[in-house]
Amino acid sequence: MHQFQPYPANLFETNPFTKIGSDWMLITAGDKEKANTMTASWGGFGVLWGKNVAYIFVRESRYTKEFLDKKDTFSLTFFEGHKMDLKYLGAVSGRNEDKLANAHLTLNYAGDIPFIDEGNLIFLCKKLSATPITTEQFCDPSVAEFYKNGDFHTMYVGEITQILAR
Ligand SMILES: Cc1cc2nc3c(=O)[nH]c(=O)nc-3n(C[C@H](O)[C@H](O)[C@H](O)COP(=O)(O)O)c2cc1C
Repeated sequence: MHQFQPYPANLFETNPFTKIGSDWMLITAGDKEKANTMTASWGGFGVLWGKNVAYIFVRESRYTKEFLDKKDTFSLTFFEGHKMDLKYLGAVSGRNEDKLANAHLTLNYAGDIPFIDEGNLIFLCKKLSATPITTEQFCDPSVAEFYKNGDFHTMYVGEITQILAR
């Protein structure tokens, strides 16, 4: 397993648009018994309810959502490289296979929170809210285009309790 160091949030200077939108991340949730991970390119970082937070959007159909709903914590893992692995983990479901093993990636844990050991930047998060997105919330009708098949997102806001870097 790799060695990670705590990284102060106030030193974080990364561009969130490219970090999340172009480089992508893995959302991981679960526990030492069972965990699942999925690729995500929608979400953000910011400040809410007096805390540093990360927010993510996970569709109803994702197996990872079951783990997010069951547990109080989750992690976001960012990588240098590993783009093909992230593509793979964003195309297959942990319902059907041991996708992490097939991508040759490894689970690591910070306390009980699972994250991906091959990453180089990890956000450990404590769930603050889970808000299902519904059609009535849309102010611009173009947003509905993303939900033609009825597979709506839930927005999870998590307090960033620690950032780990290596
Ligand atoms: C680049 C990329 C970005 C993605 N972003 C999201 C996202 O932000 N939210 C989401 O629900 N699914 C997203 N997905 C799709 C999930 O990663 C994909 O459905 C995955 O297979 C779900 O795995 P699971 O069923 O094991 O949870 C993305 C996929 C890719 C390839």
